[in-house]
Amino acid sequence: MKNLTEGNITEAVIEAIKGTKDPRAKEVMSSLIRHLHAFVKDVRLTQAEWEAAIEYLYDTGQITGPTRNEFVLTSDTLGISSLVDIINSNPDGGTEASVLGPFYIEGSKMVEIGANLIGDSEGEPTVVSGTVRTLGGDPIEGAIIDLWQTAANGLYENQDPDQPENNLRFRMRTNKDGYYQFTTIKPVSYKVPTDGPVGRMLDLQGRHAWRPSHLHYKVSADGHRNLITEVFDEGDEYIEEDSVFGVRQSLTVPYNLVTSEEEAEKYGVASPFHRVEFDFELETL
Ligand code: BEZ
Ligand code: FE
Repeated sequence: MKNLTEGNITEAVIEAIKGTKDPRAKEVMSSLIRHLHAFVKDVRLTQAEWEAAIEYLYDTGQITGPTRNEFVLTSDTLGISSLVDIINSNPDGGTEASVLGPFYIEGSKMVEIGANLIGDSEGEPTVVSGTVRTLGGDPIEGAIIDLWQTAANGLYENQDPDQPENNLRFRMRTNKDGYYQFTTIKPVSYKVPTDGPVGRMLDLQGRHAWRPSHLHYKVSADGHRNLITEVFDEGDEYIEEDSVFGVRQSLTVPYNLVTSEEEAEKYGVASPFHRVEFDFELETL
């Protein structure tokens, strides 16, 4: 097509991709092109703004590597990761999904129900328990609970050379009642990394980088849909303003303070300690 104008360039690009064989790829790319063109026209994007956007993408690529993905962090802080979670969540119910984040490690150590993760960690002792069930309420035996969380300094083990390997992360199998239980320290609120392009973007937008205290879980069981989610402290000061939009009402729980010495002894923790309960519901495939 010659004589391209603001009025016809979008259709020219759509025409250029008409040979895309995969129908879903064609649908997605056509829509992306239309939305991007509409956006450029809507804001009357300047040359300098286009250059700034390209520089953002370039810097994002430069800082991204095997241990850090700034593209994912961009998606997270713009709410896109959460929107994808919400769109793809099970319409029939079950535990809501939430962002995976960059600190998950596959294959962390297997521990027994009742494991105590505290070791040398500082922080407030917390006993966490619950069940894994089907949507119909049947317990799922042998489901794998994969957990990871921050230490008291707000860092995950794989961000912090001073923490031992597998610190505050594990995998555990549920028993015949679908039950899991572990003792840990209360995770703390922390900031997502701000030393890259995402930090510049948050500054520009006048936003902070904090995430409210949360436990990360991956829950899987044969014949059931895998669940990646987070469980939040409902009393955290950032619960209403998570920088990556991961909080859902159904994923917030109280950290109940228990002062009874007898209860503390039962779980082998110092008193007082927090008690957290959360049940997972998995969709059957
Ligand atoms: C996290 O919770 O680990 C996380 C999630 C999204 C971006 C950065 C960190
Ligand atoms: Fe996290």
